[in-house]
Amino acid sequence: MSKRIIEALNTALGMELGAIVQYMWHHVMVEGIESPEVAEMFRKTAIDEMKHAEKLAERIDYYGGVPTTKPGEIRIGGGMRKMIEDDLDGELTAIKTYKEFIRLAVEEGDPVTRLLLEEILTDEEDHEYSWRTLLAKKKE
Ligand SMILES: [Fe+2]
Ligand SMILES: [Fe+2]
Repeated sequence: MSKRIIEALNTALGMELGAIVQYMWHHVMVEGIESPEVAEMFRKTAIDEMKHAEKLAERIDYYGGVPTTKPGEIRIGGGMRKMIEDDLDGELTAIKTYKEFIRLAVEEGDPVTRLLLEEILTDEEDHEYSWRTLLAKKKE
């Protein structure tokens, strides 16, 4: 059991808790503005982030740690474009963080945590791609 791994998992969990709230609120707020498709993307992404949070919390519990209840940074408000930009930014931060924690899991000889983080990273890259392509389309 590694203290560094539990700390990293809790940092990731806080990030996911923040992302859940951010996407849920973006979903609620954008519905009143425009684009039901984008609202649905926000809703679906919030659920993805919830699944990440659950998996991270289970792994922390497996190691005898206490899963955090404190969300990381949450950015809400502004128009739809601002929301998507903030979400893209959040995903880029998540990708950077997960890559760093995957390196840590390798260092600590923890292949199961590594696999878990790699699976989450795959979803974050999908999210990042969605927001990036959507922003590019909206520039046209
Ligand atoms: Fe996530
Ligand atoms: Fe994400």
